[in-house]
Amino acid sequence: MKQFKDILKNTFGFDEYLPYQEDIITAIFDKKDVLAIMPTGSGKSLTYQLPALLFDGLTLVVSPMISLMKDQSDALNELGIKARSLNSSYSLSENNQTINLIKNNGLKILFIAPERLMQPETLNIIRKAKVSFIAIDEAHCVSQWGHDFREEYLKLGEVRPELKVSAPILSLTATADNRTKKEIVDKIYLSKTPITIESGYDRPNIFLSFAPKNNAKNQVLSFIEQQDNNSGIIYCSSRKKTEDLAKFIKSNGYKNVLPYHAGLSAKERSNAHELFKNNDDAIITATIAFGMGIDKPNVRFVCHLDMPSNIESYYQEIGRAGRDGLPAKTLTIYGMDDIMLRSEQIQSKESNEEQKRLEFQRLGALISLCDATRCRRQVLLNYFNEEIEECNNCDICLDGIDLIDGTEDAQKILSAIKRTGERFGSNHIINILIGKETDNIIKFAHDKLKTYGVGENHNAIQWRSIIRQMYSAGYIHIEIEKYGALKITVAGNEILYGKRNFSKRSQDVVAPKKTKVQKQEISLNEDSGSIIISNLLKKYRTEKSKEKNVPPYVIYADRTVIELANHKPRHIENLFNIYGLGKSKIEEYGEDIIKIITKQENR
Ligand SMILES: Nc1ncnc2c1ncn2[C@@H]1O[C@H](COP(=O)(O)OP(=O)(O)OP(=O)(O)O)[C@@H](O)[C@H]1O
Ligand SMILES: [Mg+2]
Ligand SMILES: [Zn+2]
Repeated sequence: MKQFKDILKNTFGFDEYLPYQEDIITAIFDKKDVLAIMPTGSGKSLTYQLPALLFDGLTLVVSPMISLMKDQSDALNELGIKARSLNSSYSLSENNQTINLIKNNGLKILFIAPERLMQPETLNIIRKAKVSFIAIDEAHCVSQWGHDFREEYLKLGEVRPELKVSAPILSLTATADNRTKKEIVDKIYLSKTPITIESGYDRPNIFLSFAPKNNAKNQVLSFIEQQDNNSGIIYCSSRKKTEDLAKFIKSNGYKNVLPYHAGLSAKERSNAHELFKNNDDAIITATIAFGMGIDKPNVRFVCHLDMPSNIESYYQEIGRAGRDGLPAKTLTIYGMDDIMLRSEQIQSKESNEEQKRLEFQRLGALISLCDATRCRRQVLLNYFNEEIEECNNCDICLDGIDLIDGTEDAQKILSAIKRTGERFGSNHIINILIGKETDNIIKFAHDKLKTYGVGENHNAIQWRSIIRQMYSAGYIHIEIEKYGALKITVAGNEILYGKRNFSKRSQDVVAPKKTKVQKQEISLNEDSGSIIISNLLKKYRTEKSKEKNVPPYVIYADRTVIELANHKPRHIENLFNIYGLGKSKIEEYGEDIIKIITKQENR
């Protein structure tokens, strides 16, 4: 519809819809209930922001994250949309102002947490306004089985009857399996099925790469060095590692680096959040505790110092990169010790055998991804039941992979495992192969074995890689209860007895090669003029953001900077063709932007 398109352009500064946005918006405008399951960064917010402007009453946006509400409403106010939130992080007088706006119909969008919304007092206030539309963000929080479960979400089915309105409800989430979908329908729509819109899981702008662990800290450092001083997150498996790594990165000349984990004080954690939000070059070394409550669209890289716990966590964690749709890089470093650690964690959980089996399956899927020999994205999406073409945006698609025959190496490993009674872990087996005289080797007289020292053709790192590949191909099994003893599977025995061959990677990739980055549609021109203007525009954005106490990306997006620097518009009218600049931003920043560009161009 023309009217919608005009708002898209004039208010948000976008020329086109992203996939499914128009379908959702049209359905909502027709007063239909909608459940939308779309990946991170697919533009779900617009599907409630735009309809909010089409309706004459108030739009409620229910969200679990109080900490994000201020940024979200600030961003809308920048677009000239009257938005506020009602929550405990504001002073009484600020909240009273908001309440007055609600009562006087002076508000378009109200962000609110479910526990606040469902309080009788709040319902009384909101009843006085005309509620036209209700959006429920992060709707998967309704699921009792998921890790983001929020009890208050269960009450949301009552919101329409309580408010006595027939406003359409739009539920939004990035992840919902069938069970979660059913819970959303049952609890939020009281079993009345909404229109369901589900797009694929792919995040094509995220580059996927993996490297076997060698010297993890240095691997991380050389990865960071390729990131052009952009902002990113490095996930570690322990609190201590986040702190050590932050120090290490700092000592290598990076300024804005902080660790984040649940053991830090509230003040320290909030400092890390602020640093991250407010700086284009901030790096956070974090445990998985750093996740909920980060909404930064221009995270340009995510690195895993240690292998994540399973394939879902992996996808969620790397998913924090590139929410603005611009290219983002990820690197996951993995080793045999990670596999052991993760297995032990599953084994020691107090869950039943069936749950454990499922968790091992998810871990196994991640291990296969680490040691994949074809397009990573194909392997990854396959797990989510999606078929795609080769992606051309992963290390294997770009660098290729060479496989060579590794049957003899595999037989050496299997024979060492067999001769020691399938009772030892990978370190001991490797020590036998390379002929190392450890206490245990002497104690068990393993230096007398026929296999002792037969593996001098490789070093320990290489043997470890081959063991991992055999594990991921299903030829050996790790007995967690027996301290990680390696066992030979049926297929493994076929290799040992020469009935089957084994292919291995031709070389150990220790760090990913500097990959040939594809020329993406949206990238900054490489001439010095464009680069200088980009830096000036980022500096201006940071100044403004400090003045207004909002994050820089709320002023304007990275893509806006790139388009301005490439096209170098010299007249206000031309700014309307730039991504993300609508009327309100052009009014406020347009003249300054033109001045910055003109001054630089006239030098
Ligand atoms: N039609 C559009 N054209 C261009 N960019 C868009 C469009 N709609 C939204 N965007 C941009 O896409 C980015 C991601 O949008 P948004 O924050 O809504 O993602 P999301 O789907 O809510 O993700 P999450 O699951 O992480 O909350 C934002 O930077 C937004 O400005
Ligand atoms: Mg969102
Ligand atoms: Zn690929």
